[in-house]
Amino acid sequence: MCGLFVVMKHSEATEKRRTFGIISHPDAGKTTLTEKLLLFGGAIQTAGAVKNNKIKKAATSDFMEIEKQRGISVATSVMAFQYQGKQINILDTPGHKDFAEDTFRTLTAVDSVILVIDCANGVEEQTEKLMEVCRMRKTPVIIFINKMDREGKEAFDLLDELEKSLSIRVCPLTWPIGMGDRFQGVYNIYQKGLNLFSANKTKISQDVVSITSLESQELDELVGESPATELRDELAMVEGVYDAFNRDAYLKGDVAPVFFGSAVNNFGVKELLDTFCEISPSPRGRDTDKRRIEPSEEKFTGFVFKIHANLDPKHRDRIAFLRIVSGKFERNQFYFHVRGDKKMKFPNPTSFMAQDKSVIDEAFPGDVVGLYDSGNFKIGDTLTEGERMMFQGIPSFSPEIFQELENLDPLKSKQLDKGIRQLIDEGVAQLFIQQPGNRKIVGTVGQLQFEVIAYRLMHEYGANCRFVPRNYVKACWLTSENEEEMDRFKKAKFNHMATDKDENWVFLAETPFLLSMAEQDYPNITFHKSSEFKLQRKD
Ligand code: G4P
Repeated sequence: MCGLFVVMKHSEATEKRRTFGIISHPDAGKTTLTEKLLLFGGAIQTAGAVKNNKIKKAATSDFMEIEKQRGISVATSVMAFQYQGKQINILDTPGHKDFAEDTFRTLTAVDSVILVIDCANGVEEQTEKLMEVCRMRKTPVIIFINKMDREGKEAFDLLDELEKSLSIRVCPLTWPIGMGDRFQGVYNIYQKGLNLFSANKTKISQDVVSITSLESQELDELVGESPATELRDELAMVEGVYDAFNRDAYLKGDVAPVFFGSAVNNFGVKELLDTFCEISPSPRGRDTDKRRIEPSEEKFTGFVFKIHANLDPKHRDRIAFLRIVSGKFERNQFYFHVRGDKKMKFPNPTSFMAQDKSVIDEAFPGDVVGLYDSGNFKIGDTLTEGERMMFQGIPSFSPEIFQELENLDPLKSKQLDKGIRQLIDEGVAQLFIQQPGNRKIVGTVGQLQFEVIAYRLMHEYGANCRFVPRNYVKACWLTSENEEEMDRFKKAKFNHMATDKDENWVFLAETPFLLSMAEQDYPNITFHKSSEFKLQRKD
């Protein structure tokens, strides 16, 4: 049995857990920060250990290399360590844009998020999208402004930009003293201490210099007269502009506390982690189609948010990632697979410690366990002790690229059908079926997925296919109370209609203009931009 999952009372175990994800635009410093957090937690001993988890942009043309790297990331998909009496579970999210859907789904399994921003680049495209998902789910967010050892934007400008582009109020808890070559450290507004910067890539203890008051001469002596005056002025402005930190507002996802630091120099990371332990939420409840489930409930419930294929094509089994929502999950117990309407038990549930997979006997709310799966699971599936209900809110977003899948070998159409359905269950892409002829339109957020799909269909299912581009730009899920209008729309837009994997009607729009025209012309139809509106279950 793994030491981290010792036998303990369910409520105590739940209270200790902190399950979160680190998100960022690629290159802002997510991997570096993750690594430093693991160093603090003693989960790894040396810097560089998490690096191979990263999908290098240069390798985008070599998708098998990427799949290999994704494979490696299974081992580090959940990094757990103990710190200050808490069990910290970091859920890894792929930084590569083409795997954004993976990241969105992982965000359904976390209770809070740390967002890393590069101080020179500010808010970037990927950051905005990820934050949109957090906002939808009201996920509490802490922001870490990284690379303060480099010249970047002014702190006030950055905070303005964060508030405007991410539509969230911010609340700085530390404040930088200079930046780039002049960066001297941060003043900790929350704990009222001074933390002076010394570039040190491996040291993990940090000394905070306490000063009696901001007005004291000590500050001038420590950082120099002019930076001290500047700091006092800026802090006075901070006090005037931003409300004092309010934990409830943070927990509701209304306010994001902000830290400044330099991950690679291990600076500001300890404050981040300490404050994180103090303010971040313990595992939260989740809504189902029947009722809300709180982690304190004695009966076990959980949902699958990610499925990872085995890289060895000879072994078709996959790993389903299960987030525990309530109760205690136990090895070798029978649980109810709601969609499949059957009982299942799991002899080898796995925990994913950094670089180490081990079989576990039990797990608690907030934990993620890996279940070996021979094709029973789909993303969004729910396990319970018998209750029939499904967790909600594992969204599909509109893909950005659409291509039609064509079978090149008529003798292998069965294999192709099976293969593509299984890949869709894994969440590699979305599939829309168009009539006449059951044409398969595959939608993804990145070009890379098409290469991955074609390769895997060939190597795992022996099916030879090709993709033909279709010029759609958006898929919208349709609902309407007005059946007559809906029928009229379906007839008029026959060539643009399709059904998704759960047989919901979807409109495939060729341009944003045509979409807004359709919205205008058919006011009684709602065009949903994500599948979040519907339940995962088909009755
Ligand atoms: P990502 O996972 O968000 O994509 O970013 P990652 O941590 O890999 O960091 C991207 C680059 O930024 C890395 O440099 C990393 O060393 C650097 N970096 C991270 N934190 C800081 C910081 O606080 N200050 C400065 N100056 N740089 C930082 P690289 O050259 O791409 O990789 P490497 O050769 O250093 O591994």
